[in-house]
This record gives sequence, structure tokens and C-alpha cells, in this order.
Amino acid sequence: MAGRVFTVAQQKGGAGKTTLVAHLAVLWSGLGRRVAVIDIDPQGSLSRWVAIRSEVRREAGTDGHPGFTFSQIAGWRLATEAERLARDHDAVLVDSPPHAETEARIAVRAASLVVVPVQPSPMDLWATRPTLELAVTERRPLMLVVNRMPARARLADEMISRLTSLGIGVAEATLGNRVAFAETLAEGAGVSESEPNSTATQEITALGEELWARAAHPVA
Ligand SMILES: Nc1ncnc2c1ncn2[C@@H]1O[C@H](COP(=O)(O)OP(=O)(O)OP(=O)(O)O)[C@@H](O)[C@H]1O
Ligand SMILES: [Mg+2]
Repeated sequence: MAGRVFTVAQQKGGAGKTTLVAHLAVLWSGLGRRVAVIDIDPQGSLSRWVAIRSEVRREAGTDGHPGFTFSQIAGWRLATEAERLARDHDAVLVDSPPHAETEARIAVRAASLVVVPVQPSPMDLWATRPTLELAVTERRPLMLVVNRMPARARLADEMISRLTSLGIGVAEATLGNRVAFAETLAEGAGVSESEPNSTATQEITALGEELWARAAHPVA
């Protein structure tokens, strides 16, 4: 059976796309799933993280393999590459660039599930609209993920219930604003391997399982 393609997309910059892809890749490959990661963002942040990861692993005496398949390609090649990798991987994670309509459309089209990180503020939510519309026109199931959820989150809670009442899928699991998510990436790692007992790991684990289950039942 072909693997699931998770495209992480959000036209707004800095919402947490690359962060999500990296931590999910480490989490799922750590669970023994065959994971492929594709970076179509010319900024190449994810590719830099993979390069650091391989370097750290080489220094530790291994062959430097990151633990998942990695591919950095131009957006126009994504459809073929995602299809190819889905043949022999359980999950293909795609990191996409901000402010790039053509690439975003291609990436959304390739997805079994579109994952859209959004920070809980009205302005960030408004900026999410083009991505939501893309998923609708491409008829792809979508799940919003609230990222950098503050501890006291009345505004975020209201936002989540409003979205849910509009029929927009919002993951129950949220990610808090946690240094661990940023720091581990700088070391080429993911929270679930570096800080397995942290709240950050609990959060990414809960989110990972929710997204996995959602992609298994892709009812738009
Ligand atoms: N939950 C979080 N807690 C703490 N820091 C976070 C969290 N999510 C993201 N960040 C930080 O916010 C910044 C932007 O995140 P990231 O690069 O993942 O966003 P992006 O959507 O990929 O950005 P771009 O649109 O430029 O590709 C990074 O410095 C990242 O470490
Ligand atoms: Mg990014």
C-alpha cells in the first residue's frame, strides 16, 4: 500500500512549517515507520537541519544517515517525487515555502493530508485563508495545527471552537511555545530523541498520532 503524503503548507512565513516537518520526521522514524522528507523551499532551512544532523551522526561514528530518506528538489518536480517515495515509505513529509502560490498549489495537490500550522492570533488566522482555499479547490483534506499555543489561551480556545463550528478541521493536539522545539533543531535533532520526557515530546507525539489517524481516513 502506498504511504501517506503529508504536505505542511501555510502561505504565511514563520508559522512553524519546517519545525513541524522536522519533529514529525524524527518522531515517526523513531517509531520504526519508513519516512521520507522532501524540501521544496528554496530557503532550504530543512536541508540545513538535515546536513547538521548527518554531520552530528558522522561525528558520533555512524555513516551519517539521518534516519529517513531526504530529498531537496524544485517544486515543479514534487508530484513525481512524492509519488515515487510514497511507494516504499509509510509517510512522505513535504516542507513547502511561504508566499509561493504555484509551489503551494503543487504541494497541496500532492498531499493525502494538508497540515497547516497557525499561531493563535487573529492576524495569523486571516493569513491562513489562501492556504485553506487552496485545499478546498484541490479537494484535499486539511488539518489546522495551533502552534505556539500560550499557556493561558482564552483567545486560542475561542479561535479553535469557531473554526470547528465552521467545519474546518483543527487538531486537538497543540504545540506550546517551547525553546526545546527550536534548540533541538539547531543541533540537528528532534525533541522526541533529545528530550524524550519533555512536554514538547508529549505534544508532538499526541499531534503525530492524530495526524496519522486522520490521514488513514482521508474524508475531506
Ligand atoms: N512551537 C514553537 N516553539 C518555539 N519556537 C518555535 C515553535 N514553532 C516554531 N518556532 C520557531 O519559530 C521560527 C519559525 O519557525 P519555522 O522556521 O518552522 O517556520 P516556517 O513556517 O517554516 O517559516 P518559513 O515560512 O520561513 O519557511 C523558528 O525560529 C522556529 O524555531
Ligand atoms: Mg520553513
